[in-house]
Amino acid sequence: MMDMSIALPKGRLLDKSLEYLRQADLDLKVKKNRELVQNINRNKLVLSKPSDVPVYVEHGIDIGIAGSDVLEERKSEVFVPLELDFGKCRLSVAVPEENEVDIDDFEGYTIATEYPNLTSDFFEEKGISVDTIRLDGSVEVAPRIGIADAIVDIVETGRTLKANDLVEIEKIMDVSALFMVNRISQKVRFEEINELVEKLKEV
Ligand code: PRP
Repeated sequence: MMDMSIALPKGRLLDKSLEYLRQADLDLKVKKNRELVQNINRNKLVLSKPSDVPVYVEHGIDIGIAGSDVLEERKSEVFVPLELDFGKCRLSVAVPEENEVDIDDFEGYTIATEYPNLTSDFFEEKGISVDTIRLDGSVEVAPRIGIADAIVDIVETGRTLKANDLVEIEKIMDVSALFMVNRISQKVRFEEINELVEKLKEV
């Protein structure tokens, strides 16, 4: 595969993403020198914030890998041919242990989250009105310092919640890594991309 642009998330999904692509015969030897756009074997790799991967793919990068959480939050117009078998976790609502209330009692609550759109959608659906405070990570801090009543965040093992005296009270959605394709690339480079998708399916 050549002259393909690929957006991958910096952070915890990067190594797994590279491993998957390598097993599908797309071997990207990444330079760990903080260079964010790297030319590797005539392909162009873009290392981005996880939440920006769908945005890059929507705006012209050919393919990318990111969590379904960020895609749903950004509502980017991309084609998703494949859910990948890693990055499994969930997006959940959590509250301080000492104030474990039911979700139906959230009326008027302030919720800290990196996912204000998904949070609003979830509570709107339930007919409960809440305020959201958007933070860029470490949202567990917000209830502890008294600026939010609850959080909506990713839970994998539950260790982070526990360490911060929070309890999960409801799951909003299951999350998984997704393989995304730019809508135009999907048409123009159908054969190559389809071949890669088929190989990824076998990984
Ligand atoms: C995520 C998430 C939680 C944690 C959950 O953060 O925001 O903080 O992982 O994992 P656990 O249930 O296994 O403890 P991440 O480390 O990806 O960084 P972030 O806080 O910048 O989002």
